[in-house]
Amino acid sequence: MKPYQDESTGKREQVELMFNKISPKYDILNRVLSLGIDTIWRKKALDLIKADKPQFILDVATGTADLAIEAAERLQPGRIIGVDIAEEMLEVGRGKIKKKNLDKIIQLQKGDSEQLPFEDNIFDAVIVSFGVRNFEHLEVGLKDIHRVLKPGGKLMILEFSQPQKAPFKQLYTFYFKNILPLIGKIVSKDTAAYTYLPESVEAFPFGEKFLFIMQACGFETKVKKEFTFGVCTAYVGVK
Ligand SMILES: C[S@@+](CC[C@H](N)C(=O)[O-])C[C@H]1O[C@@H](n2cnc3c(N)ncnc32)[C@H](O)[C@@H]1O
Repeated sequence: MKPYQDESTGKREQVELMFNKISPKYDILNRVLSLGIDTIWRKKALDLIKADKPQFILDVATGTADLAIEAAERLQPGRIIGVDIAEEMLEVGRGKIKKKNLDKIIQLQKGDSEQLPFEDNIFDAVIVSFGVRNFEHLEVGLKDIHRVLKPGGKLMILEFSQPQKAPFKQLYTFYFKNILPLIGKIVSKDTAAYTYLPESVEAFPFGEKFLFIMQACGFETKVKKEFTFGVCTAYVGVK
C-alpha cells in the first residue's frame, strides 16, 4: 500500500515525500484527529518496558520525536537515538527536543529501518510508534531491528489495529474513513496522506497475525495490549 498513485516510485520514496510534506502540520493533526488520545497511547505503551530500565534506546521512525521525548521523560534513559527517513519531520523534532532541553539525551539522525546505521547488539530497547505500517518491507525492518538489539533487549511497537466490537467498530470506521480524511486534507493540504492512513491500516496485519510476523523475524513475543477498544495495539518482543 503506497500513499500516491505513482507507479514510477517505490513506497519508501513516497512515504518520505509524504511525511516531509505534512511535517509542519503532523503534530497538530495527531492531537486533533485523535482528540489528544495519541499522547496517552504512547505513555501506556512505554510503560510496558519501563520495569526494564533501558539505558540506550533506539526510536525507529521517530518522526517529530513524540515517542522519543515521552521515553526520555518516562523511562529516564541515558541516551536515545531517533532515526527517520523524512528529514523535515526530524527538523520539527529537533526543535521540540531543544525547547525541552533534552538535546543531551536525544539525538535524531536520518536512517532507514531496513538498513539501520548501527552495529549489532547495542541497544537495550527499540521503540516504534505508528512507524512499522509505513515500512516498504516490514520483515526486513523487523529483522534489522532485531540485529541492533542486545540479546534480551526488548522491542516495543505501537501501531493502529482494527476495533472488532459493535457499535464502536461501526462508529470508528465511519470516523476513520470519512471524517478523518476530510479534516486531514483541509489542514495538511495533502489529499493523499489522510486517505492513505485508513487504507494502510485496513491493509496492515494486527493482533495475533502481527505477533506471528514478529516471531518469524526472531522475536519471542511476550505482550499484546489493546488501547481504546482496539484502535491501536502495543506489542512487546524480546530478542
Ligand atoms: C506516522 S509517523 C510516526 C512518527 C512518530 N513515531 C509518532 O509516533 O508520531 C511515521 C514515520 O515513519 C517514518 N518512516 C517510514 N518508513 C520508514 C523507514 N523505512 N525507516 C525510518 N523511518 C520510516 C516516516 O518518515 C514517518 O516520519
